[in-house]
Parts: sequence; structure tokens; C-alpha cells
Amino acid sequence: MIFWVSMALEIVRSIKEMQLIADNLRLKNKSIGVVPTMGYLHDGHASLIHAAAEISDKVIVTIFVNPMQFAANEDLSRYPRDFEKDCQIAEKAGAHFLFAPSVEEMYPTDFATSISIGGITRKFEGVFRPNHFDGVATVVVKLFGATKPHVAVFGQKDYQQTLVIKRLVSDLNLDVKITVKPTIRETEGLAMSSRNVYLSEDQRVQSLVISQAITNAIEAVQNGERSREQLNTILKTTLLTIENIEIDYCSAANAESLEEPELFSENESIVFLVAVKIGNTRLIDNAVWNPHSNN
Ligand code: PAJ
Repeated sequence: MIFWVSMALEIVRSIKEMQLIADNLRLKNKSIGVVPTMGYLHDGHASLIHAAAEISDKVIVTIFVNPMQFAANEDLSRYPRDFEKDCQIAEKAGAHFLFAPSVEEMYPTDFATSISIGGITRKFEGVFRPNHFDGVATVVVKLFGATKPHVAVFGQKDYQQTLVIKRLVSDLNLDVKITVKPTIRETEGLAMSSRNVYLSEDQRVQSLVISQAITNAIEAVQNGERSREQLNTILKTTLLTIENIEIDYCSAANAESLEEPELFSENESIVFLVAVKIGNTRLIDNAVWNPHSNN
């Protein structure tokens, strides 16, 4: 068996060591870009690492499957992991450090803090995963505390998460610039996700209705449809063209506030948010329609 030995990627397990490295980089006037992930990296993650490498001197990828953002009935214990492959993808995409702390390192037994964000966390994902965003917010602040970034890059794939992180950074005066990059998709349209590995071949084909539903809704907006109910119906009827699909939500909303007016105004940006279960696999996707771009 050939073991892959990295020359350029430094693996860091301890928070103290990560902080020392970050302090040193800052002393040398190097800008730090961080890409927080839960590992099992794919081209979507790689695109964020590339983006971070373009806008910062040193890139830290974090890999931590965060127990705090999973509910008891969710897939924490079976969440896919492949550390060797993650190291290769991270390095190839331009990462310099890989911060991969243990659960004990991040959450010692006396850990007692939870960051709770109101407003936008109460809808959509927040309804189906009640404490999920508290877990995300808490771990992201901890990861920022360990890596001391100037910039952090997130994917639009988790649209509501990007709004939550922006709210968090603004509300807590965190000195980190948040950059959001587009969703990377398989050629047929399925948004890349670490969870796609759970899908059977048949389910993979079925799951194309998700991106198709969003495409149909965007087409309707382009043709002048502004009724939220109509747009939601287009999403729903497309999703229901397959059997064995369970819809958590499929909704059009204001892209900034996630508010849901009965009628969208002509110059309002609209986000289409979808969360479904196909078999046991929960998949989310979204797209934003912007009146000022030719999308
Ligand atoms: P994870 O699901 O591993 O995703 C890490 C980052 O990659 C997130 O910003 C996510 O939006 C982005 N991403 C995932 N799939 C993508 C795709 N197909 N195209 C572009 N970007 C994609 O999101 C999390 O982890 C966690 O909640 C985390 C923020 C790390 C906190 O634990």
C-alpha cells in the first residue's frame, strides 16, 4: 500500500497550535483565508478552497464533523469520512493548513456555551432542524477563534447558513469578511454534497427533480410570475413527479430577508429553497433569481 505523504499541507490537531500558527502568519502580515467544512470533500469544497487561495496569502481548511449541529435522529454516526482523500483534495485546491481537531478538543466535558440566533433561523431549515443553526453558529465562532481568519469562504449550497453566518458576524462584531461562492453541480444538475454518497443509482436519477423544480420556478419568474403561491406550486408539482419523495419545504422567499410576501415586487431578488428526503437521504438545494442579472 502506498501512503500519500504531503509536503505542503500541514495538519493541525490542537487549537493552541492553530492559534500560534495564525498569530505568526498575522505577525508576518500574511492574510488568512479559512474554509470551514465537515470533510468528505468534493469539487464544491475545492471551489471554495480555490477562492480562498485567490483572496488570501494562506488558506486553512477546517474539517470537523460538528456533533452540536446534528439532532439525535440525524446522520452524525454515519456521516461519511475519508481523511486521506480530504488531505489530497485540500492540498490540490490550494490549502496550506488543515485544522482537524477531535471532538474532545472542541468540546471538553465542561463546555457550556451555545450561540442562539433569532429571526432567519426560525424558518425553513430551522423548522425541520430546530437547534441546527445554534450548533453551526457556535462551531463557526470556535473555528474562527482557532484560525483567526481575515476572510472565510462559504458555499451558496447552504443558502440559509450563509445568511445566518453573516448575521452572526455582524451581530457579534467579528472581524472576518464573509465570502459566498456559487453551488457546484454534477453535470446533470444535482448539487454536489457529501451526503450524495448515501444515494443509490436510481435515487441519484430521481434527485434531478430538485434542480429541475428550481429551474422551472426560475423560468416562471422570468416569464413574469410573481405570485408566491404559484411559484411554490411549480416547485411542488415538479418535485412530486417522482415517487418516494418527502418534501420538507419548497418555497420562494425574499433572497435577503427570507420573508414570504404573497406577491413579489418586480425588482425583488427571490431565492427558491428546497429540502426533501429521497429514501433516507435529506437533500437541500436553492437558487437565487436576481432581477438585475440575465439569469
Ligand atoms: P459542509 O456541509 O462540509 O460544507 C462546507 C462548505 O462547503 C459550506 O460552506 C457549504 O455551503 C459548502 N458546499 C457544500 N456543497 C457545496 C457545493 N456543491 N458547491 C459549493 N459549495 C458547497 O456546511 C457545513 O459543512 C457546516 O455546517 C460548517 C459550516 C462547516 C459548520 O460545521
